[in-house]
Amino acid sequence: MRVQVAIIGSGPSGLLLGQLLGKAGIETVIVDRSSREHILGRVRAGVLEEGTVALMNRAGVAARMQAEGLPHDGFSLAFDGRDHRIDLFGLTSGKRVMVYGQTELTRDLIGQREADGHPTIYEASNVTPHDFDGTTPYLTYDKDGKTHRIDCDFIAGCDGFHGVSRKAVPEKAIRTVEKVYPFGWLGILSEVPPVSDELIYANHARGFALCSMRSRTRSRYYIQCALDEKIENWSDARFWDELRRRLPAHHAEAMVTGPSFEKSIAPLRSFVAEPMRFGRLFLVGDAAHIVPPTGAKGLNLAASDVHYLFNALLEHYHDRSNAGIDAYSVRVLARVWKAVRFSWWMTTMLHRFPEAGDFEQKIQEAELDYLTHSRAAETVLAENYVGLPY
Ligand code: FAD
Ligand code: DHB
Repeated sequence: MRVQVAIIGSGPSGLLLGQLLGKAGIETVIVDRSSREHILGRVRAGVLEEGTVALMNRAGVAARMQAEGLPHDGFSLAFDGRDHRIDLFGLTSGKRVMVYGQTELTRDLIGQREADGHPTIYEASNVTPHDFDGTTPYLTYDKDGKTHRIDCDFIAGCDGFHGVSRKAVPEKAIRTVEKVYPFGWLGILSEVPPVSDELIYANHARGFALCSMRSRTRSRYYIQCALDEKIENWSDARFWDELRRRLPAHHAEAMVTGPSFEKSIAPLRSFVAEPMRFGRLFLVGDAAHIVPPTGAKGLNLAASDVHYLFNALLEHYHDRSNAGIDAYSVRVLARVWKAVRFSWWMTTMLHRFPEAGDFEQKIQEAELDYLTHSRAAETVLAENYVGLPY
């Protein structure tokens, strides 16, 4: 098989890139090690920046998101038994975010790819990028007892943190920076109406909590937990009890509870690999960078990488210019590092760190107090939360 762009990974970054390129008449194939069912069943992010929404529109896959997604004009910071609303819309001259689950976004993108007849190979093992430093890159993978080869002009490594693309790069050509946080998030999905119309990010002595949603009847809630916490120790009743204890009384009293149908623990880390281009191989999304989920930047960063790569490839194929390709890594990383900084800051401000002493505690309180009394401080939070410009 020969295509112009071979994409490793059928997550949001690979699917969005494939859809944009397909609409522009550029041929792609997506190769993923997982099954279609597994990919469609994953529950992850839930908040889309306007830039991500615009890319979904440009890719022609925004109809269901526009109909069913929930535009949010603000969110709440809860601490010290009270709420402080961050007026995203007012602070950013009219920007908002869209609450729409990654699961739904993935479903829309896979559905459109199938309707358009672009190929995806699922359950491919030993996917390997070759010769990306030269002019004739190709991929190999194993499936049904055979090794297959895909020749291409470029390889997009959209295969997440545990993928092969980053690992295929010689160690001396890549630098990684990492910070691991000493806690995780325990999250549930439950078919109950959200406790509030807007998201609540809560700082509490027992640990951070986040009240989010997927729709008006489906809630997504998270609580900070120890890294060695075992999911089987968390009955639904224990989760609800702990969540309530971390929220101001009026929310705790209003909370509707019910059985959870998804429950998982995610570790928190910041990680960046630099550069993000190696000849004809590009790293995109989680393959190159991970942020802690506080601030909802992971999926949105994957989308902004796609924006830069899509435009670079368009310039290559339509304008015969490699300027965008040459600039890809520098442009993307400038934006990535700002989101890494923001996610780290939100995480630091809202979580209980096991090693924190009185000093760290007082600084956290001062930070929250400053945020609630300074429009300038609120504006910094709001402009980062809705997403910095591309
Ligand atoms: P992925 O979604 O990881 O997709 C990578 C794809 O590559 C997968 O389909 C995988 O099967 C495939 N792949 C992997 N290895 C190989 C291989 N060797 N060969 C072929 N294919 C391969 N972000 C938020 O903003 N908010 C959240 O609440 C949030 N929660 C998260 C919870 C969890 C448990 C995780 C893991 C992530 C979460 N994120 C969250 C981050 C967000 O989901 C990611 O940033 C986003 O999925 C990145 O998209 P991606 O396409 O780059 O990578
Ligand atoms: C969700 C996750 C986040 O990390 C966040 O900051 C907001 C919402 C969510 O899963 O809904």
